Amino acid sequence: MKLNRNHHKNNQTIAFPWSIWSSIFLNKRIWIYRLRSFLAVFSAFFLTSIPLCYGSDKHPETLKQLIEMYDPTGCRECHEDIYDQWQNSHHARSITGIFMERYLKKGHLSVKDPRNATKKNFPCFKCHLPQLEKATDAVAAEIAEVILNNDKATMKKLNISCMVCHQDKAVVHGFPESNVMYGPKAEKEYPEKEHMRVKKSPFMTQAAMCGQCHGLGPIFEFEYPIQCATLYGSYLHAYIPSGGTQTCQECHMKKADHTCPPNFNDRKDVSERLRQALPLEVDTLSYRFQPFEKIFVSTIVVKTKITSKAGHRIPDG
Ligand code: HEC
Ligand code: HEC
Ligand code: HEC
Ligand code: HEC
Ligand code: HEC
Repeated sequence: MKLNRNHHKNNQTIAFPWSIWSSIFLNKRIWIYRLRSFLAVFSAFFLTSIPLCYGSDKHPETLKQLIEMYDPTGCRECHEDIYDQWQNSHHARSITGIFMERYLKKGHLSVKDPRNATKKNFPCFKCHLPQLEKATDAVAAEIAEVILNNDKATMKKLNISCMVCHQDKAVVHGFPESNVMYGPKAEKEYPEKEHMRVKKSPFMTQAAMCGQCHGLGPIFEFEYPIQCATLYGSYLHAYIPSGGTQTCQECHMKKADHTCPPNFNDRKDVSERLRQALPLEVDTLSYRFQPFEKIFVSTIVVKTKITSKAGHRIPDG
């Protein structure tokens, strides 16, 4: 501190000698050179940054901007398998099956004119489309219009995309850095120009990561409290206290499978999973019961025991 103060008092030492300035100003060559290198750096920055700009601190003002900011289609080029798995998952269709149009037509979340809708009309999107939080109310009004017009093509583009999990929901303390994808390992080095930066986030492999949306119970932060998913509550209060050790990812994302089964549209796979998860033991005993002389009643005792191997109540929501 002392040094600094002295520095301020002594103006002469920080003033640039005029001769240096004049030589810079007068020397055209230096200027042309500077302009050229500035343009080169500027255009290089723009060319590389536009397609890689996955900002987590931007505030979209139109629905188009919101969709573009979270558009995962570019990820498919290099992460094809994961992209295709994700596209078959419930996360990729997180608002199409939740009856939002009914809520917008009737009850306390309804609006007379979709243009009057604000983010407050969409408490459900806290988990079904969390990126809306960053957008303006004008975007919420556009979404209300999309839903009430039953514009399915646009609704499908509004989902829990890669960036929701790998940026917004990937860090617990502080805020995610923009242009950084957070991964479970992020161990390979690769040139930055091929990809936005990648960082390791230990949170990605913890149950609480999923718990952010998979619910503890009622949510009181809204004017009208709501409740949807409660499964994470069951995981914390029943599975863990009774000695459970696995995470959601270990049971639902084996080998980073982004389909996140169960997928109730795949009935065969669901039955197989349930058969393994809920083993049924059956013990039977049959005998003839003779209450009176010459009267025989055939009797059978069936003892069944279903053991749940799941990490929570099932079914749960
Ligand atoms: C619901 C949240 C969620 C969504 C959506 C999601 N991921 Fe992931 N992703 C995870 C989690 C959690 C892991 C870590 C799984 C583990 O290692 O246990 C992961 C792992 C990965 C990995 C590392 C794979 C490996 O082999 O370890 C890549 C790459 C990845 N995701 C890319 C994507 C891409 C691309 C998308 C979009 C198409 C996407 N993710 C969508 C949660 C998500
Ligand atoms: C040009 C190719 C390319 C594109 C496009 C691309 N990635 Fe990657 N990504 C890579 C490479 C290479 C790695 C590092 C090697 C690895 O982990 O497999 C990587 C690693 C990752 C990781 C870290 C995985 C870990 O091990 O922790 C995540 C998460 C990820 N990418 C997500 C995405 C998402 C989301 C998108 C779309 C927004 C995307 N990537 C687009 C090439 C790409
Ligand atoms: C951003 C919020 C969010 C995060 C984070 C999230 N999920 Fe989900 N998940 C949802 C929503 C919303 C649905 C229901 C989508 C629908 O069908 O409308 C869902 C659906 C699912 C389903 C399918 C449920 C069914 O009924 O078939 C599974 C399984 C699942 N998630 C597992 C996970 C796991 C494991 C993680 C952590 C790696 C995770 N989710 C992280 C919001 C989230
Ligand atoms: C020990 C393994 C295990 C753990 C840990 C686990 N699950 Fe499950 N989960 C299952 C099984 C088994 C089912 C039954 C359905 C199936 O797999 O087909 C299931 C079903 C589900 C469903 C479908 C909805 C329902 O009510 O049946 C969701 C969503 C889900 N789990 C999410 C999670 C989340 C989020 C976590 C972490 C908080 C988690 N699970 C932890 C094994 C597990
Ligand atoms: C705390 C986060 C959260 C909030 C808030 C929330 N949901 Fe959900 N919702 C989920 C998750 C996670 C799932 C998937 C859970 C499962 O299957 O176990 C889900 C599943 C659903 C499903 C079943 C979807 C399907 O495809 O099977 C419907 C319908 C639904 N939610 C409607 C709503 C409505 C309507 C609201 C607002 C009134 C709402 N949710 C608020 C997290 C939430």
